[in-house]
Amino acid sequence: MCGIIGYVGARPCRDILFNGLRKLEYRGYDSAGISVLREGSFSLVRAVGNLDSLEALLDTVDDKASVGIAHTRWATHGVPSERNAHPHTDCSGRFAIVVNGIVENYLRLRAELVEEGHVFSSDTDAEVVAHLLERHYRGSFLSALRDAYAELQGHFTIVAMSRADPELILAVRKETPLVLGLGEGENFAASSVAAFMSHTRVAVFPRSGEFAEIRRHGIELYDEQGNPVAFEGHVVDWDEDAAEKGGFETFMLKEIYEQPTALVDTLAERVGPDGLVRLDGMGLQDELFRDASQIVIVACGTSYHAGLLGKYALERWARLPVEIDVASEFRYRDPVLDERTICIAITQSGETADTLAAMRVARHSGAHVLVVTNILGSQATREADGVLFTRAGLEIGVAATKTLLAQFLVLLLLALHVARVRGKLDEDTVIRTVNELRSVPASLARLLAGEAPAQLQELAQRYRGSPFFLYMGRNVGLPVCLEGALKLKEISYVPAESYAAGEMKHGPIALLTHGSPVVAVATDGRTYEKLVSNMQEVRARGAHVLAVASEGNEGIREVADHVVYVPATSEMVSPLLAVVPLQLFAYHVAQANGEKVDQPRNLAKTVTVE
Ligand code: F6R
Repeated sequence: MCGIIGYVGARPCRDILFNGLRKLEYRGYDSAGISVLREGSFSLVRAVGNLDSLEALLDTVDDKASVGIAHTRWATHGVPSERNAHPHTDCSGRFAIVVNGIVENYLRLRAELVEEGHVFSSDTDAEVVAHLLERHYRGSFLSALRDAYAELQGHFTIVAMSRADPELILAVRKETPLVLGLGEGENFAASSVAAFMSHTRVAVFPRSGEFAEIRRHGIELYDEQGNPVAFEGHVVDWDEDAAEKGGFETFMLKEIYEQPTALVDTLAERVGPDGLVRLDGMGLQDELFRDASQIVIVACGTSYHAGLLGKYALERWARLPVEIDVASEFRYRDPVLDERTICIAITQSGETADTLAAMRVARHSGAHVLVVTNILGSQATREADGVLFTRAGLEIGVAATKTLLAQFLVLLLLALHVARVRGKLDEDTVIRTVNELRSVPASLARLLAGEAPAQLQELAQRYRGSPFFLYMGRNVGLPVCLEGALKLKEISYVPAESYAAGEMKHGPIALLTHGSPVVAVATDGRTYEKLVSNMQEVRARGAHVLAVASEGNEGIREVADHVVYVPATSEMVSPLLAVVPLQLFAYHVAQANGEKVDQPRNLAKTVTVE
């Protein structure tokens, strides 16, 4: 949601900023703008729609300025329009600002400012920031921002320029993302490393409430009282090609094909020479898991589906009670937790507002919080007691794919580790299962190189016009189905529901008519026979069954209209393979229907508002 980039350096920055916005497109947006500063004046342009609309106006922007800020906006307060796009300025025209997030008390602030004579030119909450800077300015830009910040409630990141300080940009964050890039004779502020990765790999992650002074030759950080704060740069090892499509027609497809690599990278250093799981650096001691009374998992969307698999694995292997909830419900429902509870928060971005809030609820109740995330330095990593990183690399497609697979893997590794620590699985079983996990990347590469992708494209062509899809599965097949249905909804806008197959008779089966497509995840496992009965039941009502099954299972052809095979594995490992055909199916339905797969309507990659 909303993307920001700011630049201070020696080079003309208009195009650097614009190209940075291109790298942030994946976050979701509906309008965009750029402002640069040279010789005491701003040159500013904003446009509704995609970046091509802004690009068409770029010629009107000063191309010599070497200080500037830019923004992609995902509308919350005020419709997408040129006047609501950022940057915004104050009445005096001294300040230009961009904001990501929400200023919750903006109505009161705006009323006060209007009363004082300020004239607003947009309907946004963000514009109050520019006028507050004007209100508080007494000669020091930094003090003005500090005083403005003190008045603001909500979650937001601000990046600002002042005509009186032509070689400086200021930035501050309150919970939403901000990362600074340390370059050679130039520095950056952005919502994501992706925005400046082609210029520098050295990133600084300020804490919430720290103010950054960014100049050409350096960066300083200050706390809310104005005291300098020490910081260190982290070298980001993401592949620069991650922000390019590399020959694929979309980022999503590229990321689906990157999944074997994401698994290999996530596994690296997680297996010791003894073949057991190593979770060094996790930050939570084994004793905590040994003595834990329960685990609660919180997450949103796709990450929640990963959490469901985590629940099955932790319960089956580690014999610990596991509760799971979507973070937006968990945070408001007075969950019963104590110091023997371990809360596992799963969030690829590490910035999802509801998940962060759920983590705070858990910590407040004395629980220990472990976060599973893909983003170094993200807010979740700062607030958790422990961190397990997925190493999926930068994911640009709004619909999560490779980060989900990496989450599945990390949760299975964690469950194996906890099971061993608690004496519930012997070492041989753990070693055998770890070995099986190590073989998954090769199996997945084989799946992606085999017949399945073309078969799924054909099936997508055949069923693309269906008004409704039903997904059903049992046990670990259920999270896979939930994810398959979510992918289809997100990118193809086709209604899809996912149910535990045992629930079909309790309602959803009424939806089926002749030719209704039902996707069944029917890989080998303890509930396979039960699922076959459910497949027969839906077929008896005229539905067409598209089954995902384990290689070698020829018998399933008798109860399914179409079968897509995935390499056979043990049951708990099977979601790592079974979910991939469902990603591809959703992808091809969306493509066949001409939808914009990488930037689905109304969705944002990082949901930093509640
Ligand atoms: C779906 C998707 C979303 C995210 C959800 C949580 O494809 O990407 O459902 O999974 O917004 O995001 P994170 O994992 O960043 O907390």
